[in-house]
Amino acid sequence: MQKEEMLKSLKQEIIQDNVCLKLKEGATNLVFGSGNINAQIMFIGEAPGKNEDLSGEPFVGAAGKLLNELLESVKLTREDVYITNIVKYRPPQNRDPLPEEKEQFLPFLRRQIEIISPKIIITLGRHSMNCFLPGEQISKIHGIPRKMKFVLDHLKKSYKEVVFIPFFHPAAALYNGSLRKSLFLDFKIVSKYLN
Ligand code: URA
Repeated sequence: MQKEEMLKSLKQEIIQDNVCLKLKEGATNLVFGSGNINAQIMFIGEAPGKNEDLSGEPFVGAAGKLLNELLESVKLTREDVYITNIVKYRPPQNRDPLPEEKEQFLPFLRRQIEIISPKIIITLGRHSMNCFLPGEQISKIHGIPRKMKFVLDHLKKSYKEVVFIPFFHPAAALYNGSLRKSLFLDFKIVSKYLN
């Protein structure tokens, strides 16, 4: 099966299996992911907000505009990267995703990563970071890349080496000048890795 078909069937599986039914019932759309399915860089945010829920696309609101600026600052566009979230339905009133909501989506996110097969995974915000680096503090490790073995198949013991880089969430930087500065500085590392 081609990547595009595999992603389509993964999305269908989430819908048909009623993953996170509580959130699904309150959502307009499943926000699965967008961008270049052959990208070397995959961004993982937290959960869709109002604009994303209405459009079905991740990061299209104010945080998405800042993400576009950050990408531009390293001469990338949305077409160069793949963007998704851990949680694929909007939590009510944009509250933080609950641990059990993240847990329900994690196996699907892992399969999505496996299909996209990026070299670099950039987590946006602490929720996304803690899915892969539990117990870490974003204020201490933001912008610091680390190589990690991403498990492709437990049974066959097959792994892929991926560089994880945790970033602050763009939404947190919208009204905080020093976080905004940090994010732009952290982004510089992206071009270093691509070269
Ligand atoms: N914040 C996120 O984490 N994801 C989105 O898609 C939008 C805002």
